[in-house]
Amino acid sequence: MKTLIAANWKMHGDFVWTEKPAAFRSMFSDNDRVEILICPPAHMLQAMVGACAGFDISIGAQNCHDQISGAFTGEISAQMVAGTGASHVILGHSERRAMFGDTDEIVAAKTSATRAAGLVPIVCVGESRAVREAGQAEEVGGAQLANSIPEDADGTNLVIAYEPVWAIGTGLVPTLVDIATMHDHIRGCLAKRFGAHIADTIQILYGGSLKPSNAKDILALKDVSGGLIGGAGLEMDSLAAIAAVAP
Ligand code: PGA
Repeated sequence: MKTLIAANWKMHGDFVWTEKPAAFRSMFSDNDRVEILICPPAHMLQAMVGACAGFDISIGAQNCHDQISGAFTGEISAQMVAGTGASHVILGHSERRAMFGDTDEIVAAKTSATRAAGLVPIVCVGESRAVREAGQAEEVGGAQLANSIPEDADGTNLVIAYEPVWAIGTGLVPTLVDIATMHDHIRGCLAKRFGAHIADTIQILYGGSLKPSNAKDILALKDVSGGLIGGAGLEMDSLAAIAAVAP
């Protein structure tokens, strides 16, 4: 399995940023080992797909609706994302869960729609600080995982991201032991649901203040198959520095 290094640009970026893929490739080119994905805001999806042609960089959306089309002002469907040439969709990011009402049930419906459109969902789970301190991170993360993956999923075309809410954009990261324990737990939950041979093929990303200085140790952990990177993914030198230390 290749290491997946995914940049989540959140609500940042304009068309000048279409120069970033070329800049990234001038700094990092080992695409046999590492797979690169950039998730720009929706208005840039198509332009970024074009900008990445020839650079072996995939493009993903940060959200989608669960219906194919309809009277859903302001929304974009998985089919529409697929039409841009993108390949992935981030779903259930903690910012979506906290600010836009994305419940596990909604995330499951969006995940189903994303897979039906031929795209790969990146389903995000992760505990709050209070849950971590109460010693319930595994239990809560496991329940989120179970409920956010739809009934019709078979474990193929699926990426999971473990992103502790309290680590996102804060500079705080769990200990290596805590990250390893959570990823092992997620892998175990996936194995129970889909069988070990399928679970072993699912990329489980770590996200939350991942940066060049901590990436080597985190990405080296056994069940960490890559990273979902916010702040450090906006600049190509730091994204390239993270990719460079990926196993
Ligand atoms: P961060 O964001 O790397 O800035 O903590 C990660 C994310 O929100 O996916």
